Amino acid sequence: MSHIIGVVSGKGGVGKTTFSINLAAALAEFGQESIVIDLDIENPNISLQLGVPPMPLTLQDALDGSVRIRHSIFYHPVGLKIIPSSITPSNKNIDLSRLKKILRELDDTIILDSPPGMNEIVKSVIECSDSVIVVTNPEVPAVTDALKVIKLAKWMKKENIGVVINRVRNDAYELTPDEVELMCEVPIISRISEDSFVRKAAFENIPVIHKNPYSRASIDFKYLAARLLRKEYKPPSLLFLRRLLRFRG
Ligand SMILES: Nc1ncnc2c1ncn2[C@@H]1O[C@H](COP(=O)(O)OP(=O)(O)O)[C@@H](O)[C@H]1O
Ligand SMILES: [Mg+2]
Repeated sequence: MSHIIGVVSGKGGVGKTTFSINLAAALAEFGQESIVIDLDIENPNISLQLGVPPMPLTLQDALDGSVRIRHSIFYHPVGLKIIPSSITPSNKNIDLSRLKKILRELDDTIILDSPPGMNEIVKSVIECSDSVIVVTNPEVPAVTDALKVIKLAKWMKKENIGVVINRVRNDAYELTPDEVELMCEVPIISRISEDSFVRKAAFENIPVIHKNPYSRASIDFKYLAARLLRKEYKPPSLLFLRRLLRFRG
């Protein structure tokens, strides 16, 4: 049986795509295969972030019934399975009513990367999801938008909702985890650090977990993956990290 995780946010640019890719990479580190599906149909981003070449078969082909969804999987060299969205603009209306049905054909963990906002696509993502992960940043505008999408998910009778605070700097100008939790009224399942390696990895079209497995964000992603899989994760000791950094000059 598959488990479907919907990644939503309300506000754009908070890190949903980065989160989806790196969650998949971190789950793989603990032996859990997953498929990341690009539901940001209007502005597909996963292929760009991971350097996926234009694909002959995409999510759209599976949605309109011309191929089985399994046939639109791209096997990324770093070991991730991706179902890209078509980057060719089309005036055909996307019929999302088949989304739930075609996802049932997959038996892995499925991560749905959604667009921002509260549009029909986001509603379909929530509708199909067994767990909803709301990505936000520790700032009032991002958390206010997160709250809107949380209310929508609750209204849609979703019970398994968690918040991820991304780009945490631990400085005096950001909301604290307690403040975010108080505003959102759902548990915070992870805090991902602001990390310059995330952008460096995106530049090289690989997840940060592969670019720099010991960077702050990579360790945060691995903590979360271990927690979701109920496994243990011991981050490397400070001494080991210091030696590694010295070795790298
Ligand atoms: N933890 C992080 N540390 C540093 N930069 C980040 C982090 N998370 C995301 N980013 C950067 O923020 C930008 C937006 O991220 P993206 O995943 O595309 O957001 P969304 O999918 O929500 O629009 C990207 O340039 C990405 O590299
Ligand atoms: Mg995105």
